[in-house]
Amino acid sequence: MSHGVCPVYIWKCTVCGHKEYSKHPPVSCVKCAGEANRFIMVPPPDKALDQPAAIYPIGMPTLNSILYLVGSTQGGQVNAMCCSSVTPVTYHPMRVAVAVNKNNLTYDFIKVSGVFSLCLLGLGHKQMAHHFGRNSGRNINKFEKYSQKPGKTGSPIIDGCLGYFECEVDHRATMDLDTHTLFVARVVDAFVESNEPPLTYRDYAQDLSKY
Ligand SMILES: Cc1cc2nc3c(=O)[nH]c(=O)nc-3n(C[C@H](O)[C@H](O)[C@H](O)COP(=O)(O)O)c2cc1C
Repeated sequence: MSHGVCPVYIWKCTVCGHKEYSKHPPVSCVKCAGEANRFIMVPPPDKALDQPAAIYPIGMPTLNSILYLVGSTQGGQVNAMCCSSVTPVTYHPMRVAVAVNKNNLTYDFIKVSGVFSLCLLGLGHKQMAHHFGRNSGRNINKFEKYSQKPGKTGSPIIDGCLGYFECEVDHRATMDLDTHTLFVARVVDAFVESNEPPLTYRDYAQDLSKY
């Protein structure tokens, strides 16, 4: 791609099949009102992304990872979203990397506050993953159904989770990934409530039809 050209991708709504052409996935589908997370990127015919279309339906659940709720706060408001793109990256200091879509309210909150919490989900938290992962805080108050209390950084710690980490963004190490920002953050507080097995993306995806 030549320098200065804005890349445009094809985004397909997995609910109704509608396609949009833009740099980032649309905030919602103009045809069925499906949210941004319902869009998948369709590789262009020239295979510029060098990824076959067949990987998309397999994608994330097969790669598998532990699910967290990313709690965020800004100006007295609190929010949380479900997140699979969470991984520890360094141990001294202890830092994590979390990829957040730029369309999410969580992204706006973390960008301004520079802090967030990671609340660990267990096998009994599939409905919770769905609630926080399929609704945006732009449209509803997700804490009408679930309770939370502020942690050390002011980020919400959601009641009933297996444990939590509180994090402060390391702006020097944080990276732009076009549709997402990969926030790298120092862990400043942590607490483990239970050693039950964590909920994975694969556990969640297996039961999708029940939600
Ligand atoms: C199982 C699951 C995993 C998800 N993983 C991510 C993720 O890694 N990064 C991300 O930005 N969004 C992820 N999402 C989507 C967000 O949770 C979703 O877009 C949410 O509505 C954003 O909420 P907000 O606008 O209140 O921040 C995931 C959703 C689900 C159900």
